[in-house]
Amino acid sequence: MLELLKKTDPEIYNAVKGELERQRNNLELIASENFPSLAVLVTMASVMNNKYAEGYPGKRYYGGCEWMDVVESLAIERAKKLFGAEHVNVQPLSGVPANLAAYMAVAKPGDTIMGLTLSHGGHLSHGHKVSFSGILFNAVQYTVNRETELIDYEQLRKVAHEVRPKIIVSGASAYPRVIDFKKFREIADEVGAYHVADIAHIAGLVVAGLHPSPIPYADIVTTTTHKTLRGPRSAIIMCKQELARAVDKWVFPGLQGGPHMHVIAAKAVCFKEAMQDEFKEYQKQIVKNAKAMEETFKELGYRLVSGGTDTHLLLVDLRSKGITGKEAEEALDKAGITVNKNTIPYDPQKPFIASGIRIGTPAITTRGMKEAEARRIVELIDRVLSNVGREQIYKEVRQEVNKMLKEFPLYPELRL
Ligand SMILES: Cc1ncc(COP(=O)(O)O)c(C=O)c1O
Repeated sequence: MLELLKKTDPEIYNAVKGELERQRNNLELIASENFPSLAVLVTMASVMNNKYAEGYPGKRYYGGCEWMDVVESLAIERAKKLFGAEHVNVQPLSGVPANLAAYMAVAKPGDTIMGLTLSHGGHLSHGHKVSFSGILFNAVQYTVNRETELIDYEQLRKVAHEVRPKIIVSGASAYPRVIDFKKFREIADEVGAYHVADIAHIAGLVVAGLHPSPIPYADIVTTTTHKTLRGPRSAIIMCKQELARAVDKWVFPGLQGGPHMHVIAAKAVCFKEAMQDEFKEYQKQIVKNAKAMEETFKELGYRLVSGGTDTHLLLVDLRSKGITGKEAEEALDKAGITVNKNTIPYDPQKPFIASGIRIGTPAITTRGMKEAEARRIVELIDRVLSNVGREQIYKEVRQEVNKMLKEFPLYPELRL
């Protein structure tokens, strides 16, 4: 197929080829990224792309939707089974629009919503002032505790009683510890709020039983499908039956037109994969690898936010090393190690500089790496971070990275 692209558009072909090579030749440690199966990728490149299917299975605004109904019904049924959800909408285009639809299903513009502040690990769409969530709604943010760096449930409770939010959002983008969804439910009940859980990052762990599920404790659960869940770049919304109509109405026609059926088909494939025993093993390995990294970082004298991890990600505080997150990200990039700079709670630096880096294990685990490699990677990271500015060291680490990656080929079937 890519041969075809080469003929039609050599410039884009070159960029795709370049990106495949970049993915193959770098250690991918961005916590929100992953490498889905070729089955998932191929489904997105299929003729399912071509069809308009506004509406829902059995109730479409276009003719010729019989195969669309098959695909969307399978995606819905599989997601319900996978997460134990009463109702699932598989049409959201991505995580942010899914959150918008979820909020609109239970609140009105101007209502108060509460989410974890971005600089403490929350997501923009949980009430940040530059996002629709902080513009359309009266957003009040909760924080992590300064000492423990864990979500401060007592502060959350106190503020919730003061501001009486319509929605309390749980979930995060850079929070390495278990989230107590039950506690969120209790606080939401105390103040008469809806509880929306966003499990974009931890969905794979939830499916595998490695992180408690929010399904019994949230009115609405949103998740992206492309992070630990290892599917296409997209999202779904799950909810209790009584909110099904409101959620569906807000996805279509409220916020979207034609569903991206090629991506819905790929989500169905991802859900099938996630039901297999191998997927559970994969998720277990993600956590083991993160734990191995935690131990090695500690042995090497690094401070980890909250002292470590229960999940697929770690936040490394670099202040004791005398370098910023930005400097670390750039140096590691040169050595073939891809991470992102990240604020740490109560960060003295601006977000664009940041005092930390976020490291995730989903992608390296997909490549087959285990604890030994995870430990080695941390040693390599330390080598770079202890020698910032020394190009020769970057070169040597890059050679080691290349050697390691050769043993874990990525998409070996793909030839460009
Ligand atoms: C918790 C959380 N919610 C939502 C999103 C947004 O997803 P998307 O980039 O697909 O809009 C992210 C993305 O990183 C996230 O971490």
